[in-house]
Amino acid sequence: MTPAALRWSGDAAGSLELLDQTLLPGRVNWIACRNVPIVVEAIRSLRVRGAPAIGIAGGYGTVLAAAEATRLALSPATALAHVRARAAELASARPTAVNLRWAVARCLRALDALPAGAPAAALGTTLLGTAREIHAEDELLCAAIGRHGAAALPPGGVLTHCNTGGLATGGAGTALAAITTAWDQGRRFEVFADETRPLLQGARLTAWELVQGGIPVTVLCDGAAAALLASGRVGSCIVGADRIAANGDAANKIGTYGLALAAAAHGIPFFVAAPSSTFDLALATGAGIPIEERAADEVLAPLGVPAAPAGARAYNPAFDVTPARLIRGLITEHGLISPVTAAEIRKVLGP
Ligand code: MRU
Repeated sequence: MTPAALRWSGDAAGSLELLDQTLLPGRVNWIACRNVPIVVEAIRSLRVRGAPAIGIAGGYGTVLAAAEATRLALSPATALAHVRARAAELASARPTAVNLRWAVARCLRALDALPAGAPAAALGTTLLGTAREIHAEDELLCAAIGRHGAAALPPGGVLTHCNTGGLATGGAGTALAAITTAWDQGRRFEVFADETRPLLQGARLTAWELVQGGIPVTVLCDGAAAALLASGRVGSCIVGADRIAANGDAANKIGTYGLALAAAAHGIPFFVAAPSSTFDLALATGAGIPIEERAADEVLAPLGVPAAPAGARAYNPAFDVTPARLIRGLITEHGLISPVTAAEIRKVLGP
């Protein structure tokens, strides 16, 4: 069964519950978020992570902003300003995944349908309706991506990077859903998960999800990926994305670009799976994608264990950009986009 990353509890005065992914796989602990700063902190510290999941969390976060306004008994105009200001905090909690801004903007747009002077409680109800819609839609998108992805995977072992399963989305996942769907269809193949430095989303989260689902998984350190590809045990690589530009350049967890280069060197097809909400067609190429730089400690003292001498500096971009030419196909809810060109993307996603 797919683990959930988050759920909403109650009505518009309720709370957002997040599975704290920083504690996995050791502890399964849910955090109840009742205000926006807690959600922003949870997104920044990767308690909730993965592009679609942070989008959904951001959407629910706007409901918490309206609930704050209701508790403070703010006038309609001040309540709206409060929700907009909190929405801006949510949207900028992490810079790379476009889903976060997209989901928050969609929630705010829903408020345009309300009459002028609507009270804070009405804002909350509308925002909750839209956040739930985004969440439910994501579950369907994941199922479709899983089906299209499974059909695209050639025979042989599959290597994935980071975590793109239920923990990263509102459903079964993107790249990981392709793998689990193929497995559920009765296909049998080796599944390899890069541990995914520095925060081990592959070892801690992807392996946890697969073990929970009864799918055998082999974890490798990121540096072993090229040797594994050379060994002939891998028929394809599939990863997710945080933002895909109009020409198909795709930002994803750091290490993805190196993996795509190694796959190309060995003639192994490299797929990127993502919903249409991950595309940023306003950006012509991946050069315009903002890349999050994270704290040095994540590299110098991973998971709190010092690994480098005091005085050493760190280079810690959270994402890199894989050029479209290295990607065999983009797998969306609408199907496989291949070859990966601006024209093919436009054909599937519209202008
Ligand atoms: O820093 P993270 O763990 O949020 O990075 C997540 C990824 O890079 C995922 O591959 C991406 O968000 C797609 S999730 C379906």
